[in-house]
Parts: sequence; C-alpha cells; structure tokens
Amino acid sequence: MEYQKNLYSVTVVLILLIVGVLYIFVSNPEKGRQLFSPFQKSQCQQTQISKTFNMTIKRDELDEALAKASTQDKTVIIAIINKAYVEGDKSMLDLFLDGFWLGDDTRTLTDHLLMVAVDQTSYERCKFLRLHCYKLETDGVEFGGEKLYMSSDFLKMMWRRTLFLGEVLKRGYNFIFTDTDVLWLRDPFPRLSLNETMDLQISTDEFSGDPWSESNTINTGFYMIRSNKKTITLFEKLYEKKDNSTGMKEQDVLQRLIHDGLFRELGLRVRFLDTLYFSGFCENSRDVSVVITFHANCCRSITAKVADLTAAIHDWKRFRSLSTNETARFHWSDHVACVDSWKH
Ligand SMILES: *[C@@H]1O[C@H](CO)[C@@H](O)[C@H](O)[C@H]1NC(C)=O
Ligand SMILES: *[C@@H]1O[C@H](CO)[C@@H](O)[C@H](O)[C@H]1NC(C)=O
Ligand SMILES: *[C@@H]1O[C@H](CO)[C@@H](O)[C@H](O)[C@H]1NC(C)=O
Ligand SMILES: *[C@@H]1O[C@H](CO)[C@@H](O)[C@H](O)[C@H]1NC(C)=O
Repeated sequence: MEYQKNLYSVTVVLILLIVGVLYIFVSNPEKGRQLFSPFQKSQCQQTQISKTFNMTIKRDELDEALAKASTQDKTVIIAIINKAYVEGDKSMLDLFLDGFWLGDDTRTLTDHLLMVAVDQTSYERCKFLRLHCYKLETDGVEFGGEKLYMSSDFLKMMWRRTLFLGEVLKRGYNFIFTDTDVLWLRDPFPRLSLNETMDLQISTDEFSGDPWSESNTINTGFYMIRSNKKTITLFEKLYEKKDNSTGMKEQDVLQRLIHDGLFRELGLRVRFLDTLYFSGFCENSRDVSVVITFHANCCRSITAKVADLTAAIHDWKRFRSLSTNETARFHWSDHVACVDSWKH
C-alpha cells in the first residue's frame, strides 16, 4: 500500500516535470533551444541538462548562420571581428569590405562571408552593414579592445577562435578563414583546389617555391580547409596545446606541430599557397595582374595596417586605371607604417 502510494507520487512528479519541459519549448522555443545548445546565448541557462543531453535538438544559431552563408557545397568564408576592427575614421572592416568592392569579380563573395563578432559593438556594426553575422559568446572575457601582437588577450582570442573553427568543421562545413586585414582582390576559388582529397591550403609568409614542402613558413591569416575526420583531429591537436605553449601564438604552435610531423601522422594533404597569388606585406606578389589576396602581415598594430592597406588600395585603383602596356611598370608602395610599427 505504502509502496503503491510512493509509486503514485513519483509518477505524478515525473509527469509534471515532462509537462514543464514541454511547456518551456512550446511557450518559448528560443529558451527551449538555449537549454540544449552548446553555443548558447544566455549564460544563466548553463545547466546540467545540456551536459546530460549531449545533442542539439533544434538547429541553433550557429547552424542557422552557417546555413545562410554557405555555398551549395557547404563552404563558407569566415572572418572574425572585434570592436577595435570596426572603429576609427576608416576601420579595418571598412577596408576589408572595400577589397571585395574594388576587386575583380569579388562582390558576390560577400554572400558567403560569415562575420564572427566577439563583442557587442562589432556585432551591431556587422548587422548594420547587412552582412551575415554571428555573435561568439565567451564566458567572462571582453575581447573588445585592440589586442597588441602577442599580448595575453591576443593569445586568448586566438585560442577561442581555434575552438570555434574546430566546431565549424565538426558541423560539416568547409571554410576559407580570412583575417580582416586581407584584401580580396580576385576570386580565390579558381586558384584553390576543390579536389576532395585536398585537406588544407594555407597561405605563407614567404613561399619556398615548392607547394608541398613543409619548410614553407605558414600564415594562418588565410587558408581553406575541408571538413573531415582528419581536419577535425588537427584542430583538436592544435587546441590541446593551448596550455602548454606559453608565449606562442596558434600559428607558431601549428608550425611546430607541422615540424614534428603532425600532417604526415594524420595523413593530411596540405598545399602551401604561392605568394604570387596569395600575398602579403612579408612578400609582395610579383605580379599584380594575377594577385588574389594581399595580407597586412609582418605588421604590428592596427593603425599601421590601416595606413598601409589604404596605400595598397590606392595602388590597386591605380593599377586598374592603367592600360595593359603600362602595367609592367606597376609596383606596390612600400609598407612604411608597418615597417615602423616594430620600432618603439
Ligand atoms: C559530447 O559531444 C562531444 C562532441 O560534440 C564529445 O566530444 C563529448 O565526448 C560528448 N560528451 C558526452 C558526455 O557524450
Ligand atoms: C583528386 O586528387 C587525387 C589525388 O591526387 C586524384 O587521384 C584524383 O583524380 C583527383 N580528383 C579529381 C576529381 O580531380
Ligand atoms: C609541454 O611541452 C613540453 C616541451 O615542449 C613537453 O615536454 C611536455 O610533455 C608538455 N606537457 C604536456 C602536458 O603536454
Ligand atoms: C602603349 O605602348 C605603345 C607602344 O609600345 C605606345 O605607342 C602607346 O602610347 C602606349 N599606350 C599608352 C596608353 O601608354
């Protein structure tokens, strides 16, 4: 009798619980989704539930953002922005978008560009510009200000981005990652191998001449990566080094992992990109008539990058106005501000 009574109360409690959870979903789908989403928007909902039910019931905001920006073959272009990149007379984000506007056949590429904002200001600026935007939440860390090269916040932001990009791969999306200090002057897709066996194609500071040689110095400011088991493992291995890489940025850690043979161990097919096409301030492209990207690498501060990228945009406009037989005389302006940025 006593036993039956207990059973009865347990059943009632269970039914009430189930009705309660259902009610949350029905009355407020947004909240219901947050309860189960690993990349949730509100922190107050961080409960055991999301750990117990390790799955996404509904498509969450990241899935939606990726789906909207994706090409038909599940590829997106990803750039990360913070407050410092959207402020100023001429912000880095404005220059970045100028590249797509002034480039050869690059305007429609912004349809596939997903801007990942790490603070509220940059998120709002992104929405205002009517781009595809995703707000990346980070517990208790403000990523708003300028992160001077290799400061501890700079490194934290890098690792957060590594974790995020690994998540994108896990969701089945290939992507081109681009820093916002990269001018896209031509469409890169025709120069990138779309062969499914090509796992990673990564830009270099200096190109050795051999696209298959691991002796190239990589630059993680522009690369295309395919989503598969090998690349997901690569990002996991990279992230594992987070707490054992004092003073090293993710790019250095990856370079070391390459040196230690990780690419071969994982069987990754990697191509190192020629600076003739995927260039930067470290090594200008030798030929403006084929150059695709121009990255403000080898540069320390945002102000210097903005100054020298502005000069590069002027150069590009000048090139576009030249007749064919004048282009042989074209050369890029010196990157004066960036050279100076290393002095004190
Ligand atoms: C939850 O999912 C992640 C991958 O999405 C996995 O690494 C982890 O082991 C899972 N945890 C549990 C408890 O199943
Ligand atoms: C992709 O690359 C592999 C390995 O180099 C090659 O065997 C295959 O033919 C390529 N596929 C296409 C469609 O080009
Ligand atoms: C950290 O790195 C050092 C040297 O690079 C290595 O000997 C050590 O085993 C690493 N520790 C962990 C926890 O990975
Ligand atoms: C192009 O070159 C030819 C001779 O090589 C010259 O006559 C002509 O003026 C040039 N065109 C321009 C626009 O400079």
